[in-house]
Amino acid sequence: MSASISAPTHDDRALVCSLCGAVHSWDSRVWRCACGGPLDLRFTPTLDPQHITGRPPSLWRYREALPIRDDDAIVTLGEGLTPLLTLDLGRPVWLKQDQLCPSGSYKDRGASLLISHVRELDVDAVVEDSSGNAGAAIAAYCARSSATPHPIDCSIYVPAATSPAKLTQIAAYGARVRRISGSRSDTALAAQQAAGSAYYASHVWNPWFLHGCKTIAFELWEQLGWRAPDVLVLPVGNGTLLLGAALGFGELHALGLIAHRPRLIAVQAAACAPLAEAWSREREGPAAVAPQPTLAEGIAIAEPARGRQILAAVRASHGSFVTVAEAQIVTAHAHLARAGFYVEPTAAAAFAGLLRALPEIPTHATVATVLTGHGLKSVQPIAH
Ligand SMILES: Cc1ncc(COP(=O)(O)O)c(C=O)c1O
Ligand SMILES: [Zn+2]
Repeated sequence: MSASISAPTHDDRALVCSLCGAVHSWDSRVWRCACGGPLDLRFTPTLDPQHITGRPPSLWRYREALPIRDDDAIVTLGEGLTPLLTLDLGRPVWLKQDQLCPSGSYKDRGASLLISHVRELDVDAVVEDSSGNAGAAIAAYCARSSATPHPIDCSIYVPAATSPAKLTQIAAYGARVRRISGSRSDTALAAQQAAGSAYYASHVWNPWFLHGCKTIAFELWEQLGWRAPDVLVLPVGNGTLLLGAALGFGELHALGLIAHRPRLIAVQAAACAPLAEAWSREREGPAAVAPQPTLAEGIAIAEPARGRQILAAVRASHGSFVTVAEAQIVTAHAHLARAGFYVEPTAAAAFAGLLRALPEIPTHATVATVLTGHGLKSVQPIAH
């Protein structure tokens, strides 16, 4: 890090339960509150466009808004500041190319923050469960830490059906891969049980991961000329990208740096849509669903732990939910590929949602979406 980028110096930092409001110490290793609620961070960010523009092209250019105390703890692979391009869909639509992140998905944003926090805690072993990409990202940043005096041992639990390329990638980074049969929830349970002595570096539960993902909002703001888009379309499984975006735009708004926050349009695969289902029934928590197989493995989450928060964030943004059928995912994948963007099926699902939602969006609105994962991670399922 450049020495001119100083760390935030606020002293009101704490972990706060999103359900009961209980306050936990910043340095605590608990992964959820005793009441079962997910934890959030109490932390005061600042941002100044004049400082940001001259800095190196990574998400650490927003240093004063990132909740890591010590610059020496930062674990980075140069993630963030991915290209933002338009695609003509009869009107320009902005595509944020997060498939170009170091491990091939937007999860690197969260992993950089989470593993930097792990280093601040002086933890030497982590356990994580994932549908593949978050595991690959956590494994990559643990591998990056191996060159430091504090290497971090990494075990990743994945569903047995995870794309082979993602398993190969996780193992290549030197992490132990544990394949768990059964549902995605069974995989999470296995990791939680194993996390006795190691730190549970869960992208779902750990709030530092969300504070990494919030940089998607800062980058859209910067790359659109210090403006927020009017509408942002995002894929949602456990909601780390959507909650991160809501957090980031919320911080920009609170700092007076944007006039309005974007409407968030959350996309789920119709085959596994507990949140879209809850939305249509005006429920505050995820609906019980019987998940069917879907090409969109990254968002096949039947029981999202932060489901209430996701529904509340979409509601607060005046947004909505869209579901997409498998055939629409295939069509969207082909559409993107023929335009030069090779993404994995989960990312194509978000674009399919955008194609569905676009006719309802006013023509003057600035519309953006995120290409969340690289196509080479999951080549077999869709061949055109
Ligand atoms: C490529 C891709 N896009 C989107 C998502 C959805 O992220 P989240 O589960 O945090 O909503 C994932 C999650 O694994 C993913 O791998
Ligand atoms: Zn609580």
